[in-house]
Amino acid sequence: MDRVNATTPSAPADEPARAAFAALRTPEGEQLLAELRDHDPADELAAATRLRRTHPAELVSAALGQARLRQRAVAKFGAEDAYRMYFTPNGVEQATRTSVAAHRAARFAGLGVRSVADLCCGIGGDALALARAGISVLAVDRDPLTAEVARANAEALGLEDLIEVRCADVTEIDTSPYDAVFVDPARRGGRGRIFDPEAYSPPLSWAAAAALKAPRAALKIAPGVPHEAIGPEAEAEWISDGGDVKEAVLWYGEGFAPGAFRATLLPSGATLTAPAPLPAPPVGPVGRYLYEPDGAVIRAHLVADIVERCGGRLVDETIAYVTSDTRYSSPYVSGYGITDRLPFNMKKLKALLREREVGVLTVKKRGSAVEPEELRRRMKLSGPHSATVFLTRVAGAPTMLIGHPLE
Ligand SMILES: C[S@@+](CC[C@H](N)C(=O)[O-])C[C@H]1O[C@@H](n2cnc3c(N)ncnc32)[C@H](O)[C@@H]1O
Repeated sequence: MDRVNATTPSAPADEPARAAFAALRTPEGEQLLAELRDHDPADELAAATRLRRTHPAELVSAALGQARLRQRAVAKFGAEDAYRMYFTPNGVEQATRTSVAAHRAARFAGLGVRSVADLCCGIGGDALALARAGISVLAVDRDPLTAEVARANAEALGLEDLIEVRCADVTEIDTSPYDAVFVDPARRGGRGRIFDPEAYSPPLSWAAAAALKAPRAALKIAPGVPHEAIGPEAEAEWISDGGDVKEAVLWYGEGFAPGAFRATLLPSGATLTAPAPLPAPPVGPVGRYLYEPDGAVIRAHLVADIVERCGGRLVDETIAYVTSDTRYSSPYVSGYGITDRLPFNMKKLKALLREREVGVLTVKKRGSAVEPEELRRRMKLSGPHSATVFLTRVAGAPTMLIGHPLE
């Protein structure tokens, strides 16, 4: 494949950054990056002074900046890849983490997709995962430096035969030769995060139209996207990793279920789906057990499904805590045995925790404005035992539920 195909002239303002990046990829730059691999950011000034004795100052600054970005990228890409890859500040911020990108690539590969047009590829978080799933990728970004970084990443991970990087506006790309399209619009502008899907670059409506033209497509969106912004043609999937919701993706085409909502939990890959929005679940008194659904389940509006599976009810119609009298175990919830239920009252809670000799308190809250740190400070905890307190509303009333995680 032709790996270098720059169709957008570089903006002059971008030149110094591109020159600095090119210098980093020389043997001298690579040697500096290798030296800085395990450096302590607190000693950056000392490292800069030392390295400037033997290397040009500009190269040292570029290497220190890249070393910092690599350290930040470890959380998304793991140390092994992050220390071989290259980043820009926006690129690392906006890149898809490997776990989520690999999940998405596996869904495409499982349906026989062999080629994908990755529209808005950034530094290549998704393109790399797609290539590792054996898919050949056209990776497009209109920012010249970002496209160069994506190309360098494909080479650094030995995936250059599967990834063609093109610097272009995605609206100019003919996607007809590809089995599928993936779009990850920029959701950050000069003033930070963009919440209006029509202000994304490119806008969500353009991305959805591009998705509908392709045999199959995926569109990455913010997890908080209003459900009304999701068209009936898409299957919507919310993905959490380690209990934190990372993103939502809209799937289009054969093999996906239009109108369905799905919650997928990584790293297990456990996935829960309902063909259409579920009816409102029942609400009732707090039972022996409390279940806290994973954030992806909540975002996908699948709490009613959990209520049905555990034969339970909500503690309040507006709160995503599920309660039941029977013990239920599932990857989609964290379960707790409830020992006490009290109207919200700090003094009573303090007395109860002292009586139970609670020294370690986990504070969970839904529908309460209390700050967990402040609460813990006021409790003056001491003792050998631990407990969990839920600050919430039960049938509209501010309530404290005390309990312990189920094994
Ligand atoms: C959210 S990032 C993509 C992150 C990528 N999926 C990853 O995992 O690394 C969005 C990218 O879209 C690019 N972009 C925005 N509008 C574009 C357009 N009209 N054409 C091409 N690229 C565009 C930005 O330069 C940015 O790099």
